[in-house]
Amino acid sequence: MSQPTEFLSYFGFHTTPFTREIRVQDLFVHEIYKDTLEHLLHTVNQRMSATLIAPAGTGKTALLRALKSRLPDTRYRVHYVKVTNLSKRDFCREIAASVGADAARIYPALVRRIQERFANTLDTDSLRPVLLVDEAHAMSPDLLGILRILTTFDMDNRLVVSIILTGQPPLAKALRHQKLEDVAQRMAHQATLRLLSRKETDAYIRHRCQITGVSACPFDQGAMEAIFEIGHGNLRATDHLAFKALEMAHHASCNTVDSNHVTTARGMLCL
Ligand SMILES: Nc1ncnc2c1ncn2[C@@H]1O[C@H](COP(=O)(O)OP(=O)(O)OP(=O)(O)O)[C@@H](O)[C@H]1O
Ligand SMILES: [Mg+2]
Repeated sequence: MSQPTEFLSYFGFHTTPFTREIRVQDLFVHEIYKDTLEHLLHTVNQRMSATLIAPAGTGKTALLRALKSRLPDTRYRVHYVKVTNLSKRDFCREIAASVGADAARIYPALVRRIQERFANTLDTDSLRPVLLVDEAHAMSPDLLGILRILTTFDMDNRLVVSIILTGQPPLAKALRHQKLEDVAQRMAHQATLRLLSRKETDAYIRHRCQITGVSACPFDQGAMEAIFEIGHGNLRATDHLAFKALEMAHHASCNTVDSNHVTTARGMLCL
């Protein structure tokens, strides 16, 4: 197998293309991305909370990174928490660690500590706390219920922390649970992302090539169409297909990626 560096220079890439390690300033800005980002910024500006619910690979985590970068350090203190299958206590310990509160407490005291920390951030540091909760579809109703407690200050009379609750579509179903009606009601905005159109996918592929320094996009029109037909405009699927197809073309000593390379690439991926 060829070395990665050989593969990069073969096509003229300065850095690895289609990787998840993309800088915020290099993210592809498309219509839905722009609109969703503006709505979330507006929600946070109003000290309100929102959900961001969309299928896997549509760019939710990337958008959270973009949102964080748009919230100036001089006005906001942003915390990112990724939820896996945690207990209530472990979830609170994650948040406590992220906000810099003492995590060695029993559960009810831990919740109070986190609340105090949020209130202090606002009152003493004059910074608005923002909590970005990612992968929230993995949260049990019990765990989601904690968000109601965390966002309640002065008997619900005060807006202190904004939460952006992010996850895949099962999160929407979970929030419709009767037990979580009040959590759902606290979400002032419901944001989503969709799959890219054919035109947007073409532009996305060109953009991802361009940010890695190539002078010309190595994918021909047939390859672009095949990527869209297989990946349906899902960003992660597009990345994986495009990267694998580049490897196939390189392996066959072709300078241009065509639809055959994409079809071969598909057979080697779980799509
Ligand atoms: N705006 C963007 N510009 C460039 N690349 C992007 C953008 N959004 C997403 N990507 C790419 O698509 C991949 C998938 O995006 P991301 O991880 O944000 O999806 P997700 O919706 O959070 O998926 P999951 O639900 O599985 O966590 C990223 O690794 C990144 O390479
Ligand atoms: Mg994600």
